[in-house]
Amino acid sequence: DTQYIRDRLNRPMKDLRISVIDQCNFRCTYCMPAEIFGEDYRFLPFKELLSFDEIVRLTEIFAKFGTEKIRITGGEPLLRKNLNQLIKRLYAIDGIKDIAITTNGVFLTKQAKKLKEAGLDRVNLSLDAIEDDVFKEINGRGVKTKPVLKGIEAAQEAGLQVKINMVVKKGLNDSQILPMARYFKDSDVILRFIEFMDVGNHNGWNMDTVVSKQEIVDRISGEMPLEPVEQNYYGEVASRYRYLDGGGEIGVISSVTDSFCGSCTRIRLSADGKLYTCLFATEGYDIKTPLRENASDHQLILELIKLWSGRTDRYSDERAEGKPLKREKIEMSYIGG
Ligand code: GTP
Ligand code: 5AD
Ligand code: SF4
Ligand code: SF4
Repeated sequence: DTQYIRDRLNRPMKDLRISVIDQCNFRCTYCMPAEIFGEDYRFLPFKELLSFDEIVRLTEIFAKFGTEKIRITGGEPLLRKNLNQLIKRLYAIDGIKDIAITTNGVFLTKQAKKLKEAGLDRVNLSLDAIEDDVFKEINGRGVKTKPVLKGIEAAQEAGLQVKINMVVKKGLNDSQILPMARYFKDSDVILRFIEFMDVGNHNGWNMDTVVSKQEIVDRISGEMPLEPVEQNYYGEVASRYRYLDGGGEIGVISSVTDSFCGSCTRIRLSADGKLYTCLFATEGYDIKTPLRENASDHQLILELIKLWSGRTDRYSDERAEGKPLKREKIEMSYIGG
């Protein structure tokens, strides 16, 4: 039996989200607004990034404590050179059963096949609108939907499982809820709607910008009736629904109106080697320094136990309870969602 490390709220440490780079080819208005992430924004220099050796070593330790699922994020993870080589090495680690990536999809046409061959199982692809005019506005780089749709196609052809993530922000793209649902109904990909969250410090969030899970489901169900489905696994972030006519399923990630901190088993590793026990954390825990100072596995394990067993994070639950929220948070593009 697996000896999970448990936190103060008895939640096991199970999933590892690894950010491999803080840069992105998009400038989504709610994530990396171009005014802030401009020409002179200083991204992490290469030597500050964890090397593949370092990531693999840490993942081996996590796997010893029962981590089976790995999610690779960014920024845009496909901008990290030779990512397929990292996937290949993660795939070879004893105990790792599922490797997924969260990407904007543009580079999948070039990389999907290589990534699949390396051992990648699944891709979650961000697409916030199906109409070019809306999408161009959101991604901040005037990119049309075509390159992303091509990326989806390439992933499917390579045999990767695909889900689509659509962040819904009122007034920005809620007009796209129905067009997106119609577009992906009766296809092999699962479309997931995400309630807009107050991640980072620059995305202009307030409660009025959120379209609730209930409203999303009602809007779709009004035209294409839905019914709820049981979750796939403990701690799944998306609530699932299926079309009554057999047209497949959708998901809704409701971190604002129906938070899920009680089953949060996720730990996050930033590209520069800090561990975060919550998406809304302020401070990370520097694991790179001990790594680079030749700490033994035993020492690293003790650090990890200390970090997770003291964990009390439940930011989204606290938001729902109306508790005062933190001011300074890490950025979405830095921690990868
Ligand atoms: P699956 O394994 O496919 O279910 O992946 P996932 O949905 O956990 O990962 P993905 O990177 O696709 O994230 C989808 C959305 O869920 C993003 O907006 C994430 O920021 C959000 N999300 C994922 N994990 C958490 C979490 O622990 N807390 C909160 N508040 N949001 C999360
Ligand atoms: N709220 C919800 N989801 C967000 N994402 C980025 N910023 C936010 C936000 N403020 C999504 C991205 C991507 C995933 C990692 O997180 O669109 O699909
Ligand atoms: Fe890039 Fe994703 Fe952030 Fe958009 S949401 S800027 S694609 S990391
Ligand atoms: Fe986990 Fe923090 Fe998200 Fe709650 S808000 S589900 S504790 S990452």
